[in-house]
Amino acid sequence: MRPGGRAAPLGTPAIEGGEPVRPSFREYFPKLTDAEKRLVLEVLESGRLSSTVGLYTRKFEEEFSRFIGVNYSLAVINGTAALHTAVASLGIGAGDEVVTTPFSFVATATSVLHNNAVPIFADIELDTLNIDPETIPDKLTPRTKAILVVHLAGHPAEMDDIMKIAREHDLAVIEDCAQAIGSEYRGRKVGSIGDVGAFSFYQTKNMTTGEGGMVTTNREDVYKRAKEFIDQGQEGRYYHVLLGWNYRMTELQAALGLAQLSRIDELNAQRERIARIYTDELSSLDGDLVQLPRARSHVKHTWHIYQVLLKLDRIRVSRDRIVEALRAENVLVTVAYPRVIYENPLFQQLTGYGRGCPWLCPLRGGAQVVYKPGTSPRAELAARSVVTLPTLAGMTDDDAIDTATAFKKVLLYYRV
Ligand SMILES: Cc1ncc(COP(=O)(O)O)c(C=O)c1O
Repeated sequence: MRPGGRAAPLGTPAIEGGEPVRPSFREYFPKLTDAEKRLVLEVLESGRLSSTVGLYTRKFEEEFSRFIGVNYSLAVINGTAALHTAVASLGIGAGDEVVTTPFSFVATATSVLHNNAVPIFADIELDTLNIDPETIPDKLTPRTKAILVVHLAGHPAEMDDIMKIAREHDLAVIEDCAQAIGSEYRGRKVGSIGDVGAFSFYQTKNMTTGEGGMVTTNREDVYKRAKEFIDQGQEGRYYHVLLGWNYRMTELQAALGLAQLSRIDELNAQRERIARIYTDELSSLDGDLVQLPRARSHVKHTWHIYQVLLKLDRIRVSRDRIVEALRAENVLVTVAYPRVIYENPLFQQLTGYGRGCPWLCPLRGGAQVVYKPGTSPRAELAARSVVTLPTLAGMTDDDAIDTATAFKKVLLYYRV
């Protein structure tokens, strides 16, 4: 520290002509164990590749139910399909609205549109970056059927308050757990608290099947409808009771999923360790140049990503320049997400299914939706100021230290 409490700069950023923190750029990939490879090989050798003829998918579902603490799980091809199915499983459709967060991956909201319903955006809490329950009641209309929460970055949303609002207004609760496999709220795993949960096993997720997803629920009726929805709407062979899809997971994905699930606690602990390194290394900037993420005392955070908010008035360049400067240091950083969902052209132009559908659906009774700037001011601020540090499987402690060093170097150089 310098006199006056200001940390000394750590040198000239590479983007300004200095030496980069790392000599070259590296990406991170999951390191698969021999046991994982063996299980996938067993499927290949058996020739039973589809879930309709194999046993791995059923077994993966059973183990996942045990892990989350639910009665039913349904494996699907990816997290987007899981969300699409979750919304459909509640019977949500044309004329309905779902209140959700705009600070998430786009699939959170498109899962509603794909059911011909309309997403309505509440605002977020600036500390957890999750939906702020206090902003939900104002968004409810007679058309609202559900609240769709996202446990962003692995930090559970404030479920007690959300469930209370849902009970008072007779609404269903959908949990988007794509980033929160194993996260807990007051000792309960997310995906077991609302009516239905949706998980993703994409490459970068806390456990992976390459692509993959899971729907979880305690409700038999929801499970039944979801099961039909992911299998061509079939109630029995070639007997189609609803408009469905083929979202069935393959046995190859399920075998890898089973093996990954058996070490999810270890995978989550590695993420937590990387997050702890970031917090230790960057604590001198906290409250001054940045806001670091922290876990509330009643949750288990699984640190899917490490979301830092820049204090833009303390920095003399834009967030995007900071990100460019970090990349020039040869460290991996991203921005999740650079704009709130409704700032995307799909929502500004109401393109959807074309000709304004589903927003102009006559079943909405003429109710207009305009996603105006300022709809969710805290989410807009987060999207303008967030920088995402990775906690990816395959990262070492040194990778995290280098990332934090580059972050400190760049921010101290560009401080006001
Ligand atoms: C919050 C959230 N919801 C949904 C999804 C969609 O999952 P997938 O990429 O497996 O389709 C993701 C994945 O990026 C996500 O982060």
